[in-house]
Amino acid sequence: MRSLLVLALLGTPALADDLDPEALKRLVHQDCGSCHGLTLKGGLGPDLRVETLAHYDREGLASVILYGVPGTPMPPWEPLMSDAEALWIAEYLLTGESE
Ligand code: HEC
Repeated sequence: MRSLLVLALLGTPALADDLDPEALKRLVHQDCGSCHGLTLKGGLGPDLRVETLAHYDREGLASVILYGVPGTPMPPWEPLMSDAEALWIAEYLLTGESE
């Protein structure tokens, strides 16, 4: 896992203090959307719209993104993104800006 993380970091020009919101929005709609639906209304994975995520706070949602849901197809994104990026995505989903 650690070497994967290092590889992911080496391959990533933008690190935590250098967020790229446009790239993160694309990731949400394309990568998350491949399971959660391109409009995030659900597919293989559940609906990710703000009304269905209301039971999460920003940190709780970021940890689902970083660590996944073990035993389900929801993968951990921790090898591929920083904590700051996961928090950014959580905020993006919780404000409803992604709709
Ligand atoms: C390979 C398919 C797949 C991908 C890619 C994926 N997910 Fe998921 N996700 C799932 C599945 C399946 C579940 C449902 C897990 C369960 O049964 O609890 C889930 C659950 C979730 C949940 C919990 C929803 C709830 O109501 O509790 C969140 C939040 C979530 N995903 C966010 C994301 C985000 C953000 C991304 C992109 C960074 C992403 N997912 C990418 C398949 C995926």
